[in-house]
Amino acid sequence: MPHLRRFIATRCPELTDWLAGAVDAGSGSSEPVGGHARALVWEIADLLVYQRFPEAYDALAELRWDADQLADVCELEGRTIIDAGAGSGWLSEDLARSGRVVFAVEPVGRLREYIRQRADRAALGNLFVLDGLLHRIPLPASSADVLVTSRAIGWQLADELVEIERVVRPGGWAIHSVGTPDDSPRTELDERLEASGYAPSRYRDAGGWRRRYARRFDGG
Ligand SMILES: C[S@@+](CC[C@H](N)C(=O)[O-])C[C@H]1O[C@@H](n2cnc3c(N)ncnc32)[C@H](O)[C@@H]1O
Repeated sequence: MPHLRRFIATRCPELTDWLAGAVDAGSGSSEPVGGHARALVWEIADLLVYQRFPEAYDALAELRWDADQLADVCELEGRTIIDAGAGSGWLSEDLARSGRVVFAVEPVGRLREYIRQRADRAALGNLFVLDGLLHRIPLPASSADVLVTSRAIGWQLADELVEIERVVRPGGWAIHSVGTPDDSPRTELDERLEASGYAPSRYRDAGGWRRRYARRFDGG
């Protein structure tokens, strides 16, 4: 942890006070710190890869799947689709081949740039890249027919679910491919999605069957 603290303070001095406060607040806790430290290291590692080596992230093909695999849930042809937490944009590109318009929403600047380059390379004039978070999507209410996330939901789940219901039009769909192996124990995210009206199903990538959740919003 001291290494991490020094690293963060050096790279981002404005976080020094916040970090000191967080460490003080946690020092009286009886919870083992190991799990938290490991989770933090992974978060930092992910951010470094996203910011510095997007092409390396994009090459991690084992977690990819195909937009065709959404065809059993809802129609994509001619639809306005949001891919939230779009990462390197492989799914956004795939969706743009059938959708009318695709908005790739992604908070990391370097990844947004990567998706724009990807759209240019593929000459996809219907793929637009937006800076945003899943709980703050910079689009008007009821503007999407379909919202998709791929391993990108659950940072602030309650707010995210409200925001998704705002941007998806009545009669539209939200589909979350959470990435968890289908035969693994259920997580809190699984429970909460089901409690929020999402029906479980599964999709296949190179690693096997994984869980996904879909909900159609009333109306339309
Ligand atoms: C595990 S990656 C998945 C990327 C892509 N959907 C895929 O399947 O390869 C998670 C992505 O969500 C983005 N992200 C992080 N926090 C987010 C938030 N609060 N709202 C939306 N996206 C977020 C990350 O920058 C990253 O691109």
